[in-house]
Amino acid sequence: MSVIILGIESSCDETSASVVKDGYVISNYIANQTIHEKYGGVVPELASRAHQQNIIPVVDIALKEAGVELNQISAIAFTRGPGLLGALLVGTSFAKGLALSLNIPIIDVNHLQAHILVHFIKKDTSDFQMPKFPMLCLLVSGGHTQLVLIEDFLKMEIIGQTIDDAAGEAFDKCAKIMGLDYPGGPIVDKLAQAGDPTAFKFAKPKVDGLDFSFSGLKTSFLYFLRDRLQEDHNFIENNRESLCSSLQKSIIDILIDKTKKAIKQTGVTSFGIAGGVSANSELRKAVQALGKELKLDVYIPELSLTTDNAAMVAIAGYYKFLNNEFADHGLAPLARMPF
Ligand code: KG4
Ligand code: ZN
Repeated sequence: MSVIILGIESSCDETSASVVKDGYVISNYIANQTIHEKYGGVVPELASRAHQQNIIPVVDIALKEAGVELNQISAIAFTRGPGLLGALLVGTSFAKGLALSLNIPIIDVNHLQAHILVHFIKKDTSDFQMPKFPMLCLLVSGGHTQLVLIEDFLKMEIIGQTIDDAAGEAFDKCAKIMGLDYPGGPIVDKLAQAGDPTAFKFAKPKVDGLDFSFSGLKTSFLYFLRDRLQEDHNFIENNRESLCSSLQKSIIDILIDKTKKAIKQTGVTSFGIAGGVSANSELRKAVQALGKELKLDVYIPELSLTTDNAAMVAIAGYYKFLNNEFADHGLAPLARMPF
């Protein structure tokens, strides 16, 4: 009999539902909450309210697109954390209620593990290859920047992480300094295409081991602009593309530098990227180049699976289902959640 998992994601500002059947994604519907744009960041209260409004139609669309009836679902997987508590509460409560009414199990999923598990979604294409263990994954999102060693589907270890801001945060905060909208990452990516990545240089962090730091870069970017604006009030406008391009290069250099170190240290031959920042076009190119240089099997997620989505939650749920790892109805969402 087929294993059909309904996945639900509501940890931040995307309400998403997905159906995974026997490890294949058959639907993945995402409702983006545009309301936060005008506030320059996610407003937690507004996020939970929007999740409440979205969750039923989103689940309905995901089931319809998959051609799956409620009574065919084997289990419901939901993001338990980390994330915004009020937002997580919507997905968690909905999953519990629906599972109870269908008399099927629930599966709690760690959002970060889910980002990584997109690499283990099965595909029908002839070139599809499941990554080999151990695999190293650079997880780069708005809230996290981590190097994760994956020993098995559900066995992962963080071997390096940011000691301050996340890579996505560096993109978003520097974009805000330039007066760009939220989230700034994709806007910087787009503007950078017409800029010169070598035009400006910013401070490089000095952090030991495999850890990252981005707060120094942000401060250096801020002070650099403050000084230049004193000489030329239109400095940002006149140099927007090259500022974006140079900033993006600085972030990518920091990421690639530590990744290279981690690959050499662990001796892995499979390497992947995941999380919202893995949508970045130059990071994707840099990772391909690194793969060639170090002779690695490189895994880059398709764009729809980089930022928050429920397919990643459903696939994590699928592997937990095969492992008989179910959740109790008494469990609560967690704003902070270890691996
Ligand atoms: O994984 P995600 O959707 O949410 C979190 O779990 O945080 O990541 C969102 C982050 C934001 O910081 C956003 O600016 C960044 O991913 N992002 C990008 C790009 N697309 C999204 N950063 C750089 N370039 C992109 N193309
Ligand atoms: Zn995420």
